[in-house]
Formats: sequence, C-alpha cells, structure tokens
Amino acid sequence: MKANNPIGIFDSGVGGTSIWKEIHQLLPNESTIYLADSHHAPYGIRTPAEIVDLSIKNTDRLLEFGAKLVVVACNTATTNAISLLRKKYDIPFVGIEPAIKPAALHSKTGKIGILATRGTLSSALFSQTSEEFTKDISVVEVVGEGLVPLIENGEFDNPLMEELLRKYTEPMIEANVDYLVLGCSHYPYLIPKLTEILPKQVKIIDSGIAVARQTKFLLEKHNLIRTDISKPSLEFFSNADTATLEFLLADYDDIVIQYRDF
Ligand code: DGL
Repeated sequence: MKANNPIGIFDSGVGGTSIWKEIHQLLPNESTIYLADSHHAPYGIRTPAEIVDLSIKNTDRLLEFGAKLVVVACNTATTNAISLLRKKYDIPFVGIEPAIKPAALHSKTGKIGILATRGTLSSALFSQTSEEFTKDISVVEVVGEGLVPLIENGEFDNPLMEELLRKYTEPMIEANVDYLVLGCSHYPYLIPKLTEILPKQVKIIDSGIAVARQTKFLLEKHNLIRTDISKPSLEFFSNADTATLEFLLADYDDIVIQYRDF
C-alpha cells in the first residue's frame, strides 16, 4: 500500500536535516528517505538550469525508493525548480521558501533581513513572494556566500564562520531590522552563533515547522498517512563524506546513514 511507503526528502546537502527533524517530530510514524546531494553542493551558485537538472535527478532517485511524496528541503531548489517538478511528476511536492510573510506581518520596525543563497534571492519565485508581502516594509537581502560549504564540512567553529556572519548581519543591524529570515535550510544550524551576534530584539525565523505542517496536511489530503504500526525506517544517503550528517543526527537512534553514489 502506497501510504506505507516513505516520504522522500532531498537537499543540496546536510542542511535539509533541519527540516527532516521537524517532519520526524510531527510525523514520528512515517518512514523517510533523505538524500544529501553534498557532492553537488552548494546549489546556490549554480544556474537555474543546473538546479532543475539536479532536482530532477534527486526526485527520480527518491521515486526509485518508492517515495509517496517529496519534500524539497532546499530553498534554492524550491524557488528554481518546484513548479517544473510539480508539472513533471504525479506525486505531491512540499517546498520550502523563506518565511517572509510572517516576518513582514509582525515587524514593528518595518524592516526585516533575509539571509539566503544567491540562487534563491535571484529566483523569479522569490521576487514574486517578496513583492507580494513586503510592499509596506523594507527588506535587507544578503547572500550568505561561503556559509553552506563551511556547514557541509562541519566547520561550525571555524573563525571564518563568525567573521562571515558578522559581515552579513551588519547591514541588517544598521538598518534596524527586528526579524531575520533564514532563507536556506542549512542556516538553522547557525542560530546559536547568530543569537550571540544579533541584538536581543532581533527574532530569527525559519520555515521548518511550516514545512512539516504542510507535509502532514498533504499526506492527510491524499490519504497517504502511514498505517503500519511497525517501526518506521529512517534512511539517509549522502554522495559525499557522511561525517557531518552523522554529527548533525547524533541524537537520533534507529536511523541509518550511508554513502551512496547518485
Ligand atoms: N539548503 C540549501 C537551501 O536551502 C542550500 C543551498 C546551497 O546548496 O547553496 O538553499
């Protein structure tokens, strides 16, 4: 029965595990297959055509595993490829986009910051969403150049990380933003560092919980909630070194992390 098949999740690398954690918390009985395309990371510096090709490759692989729904746990892939994926495949997709709407709605200073990849900030989908929700406020957009490679290598404590985060948040602090929107699924892992750097009144928001809720909503809508009462299978495949994946998922038992070429 298809409902007992896994949820497929992919990202350009390890960052989408921040989304997987929210999905697993909300839907603990669901089996999941996660693809970390770390070999091709970062996606954010690639052309839209390359991002589309990689997204198709990842989706095809997830379908080979029998995925009943695919979560594109990558803002860059979502903003560049999800409309095409939805046209090409006959399964439900959940995407992730920067949470501009709640930030814009709740901002008191009328200024919000967005940290995302170049690929996300330059996409048509992002411009559309941004235009729709930020008519009355100003937005400081900053490309987080260099952050994804450091996260992929597990270099959270590299001094360069702090240097880059200080540099990227400086124009936001100067502009008096009261919200920082994290527009990349890798960035929630930087929240401890960002909290140290940012003034107390700046709230950091990401889209992880919203993605998990949308996944649940679509599974229910399509009658795809897993009914099997045996333990779900939780598999992670990376096409590069699995060390960072293991580090980020160290708190979870009963998961399998493996190298796979894809
Ligand atoms: N996690 C991806 C995102 O959300 C990172 C993009 C990249 O690989 O540059 O955008």
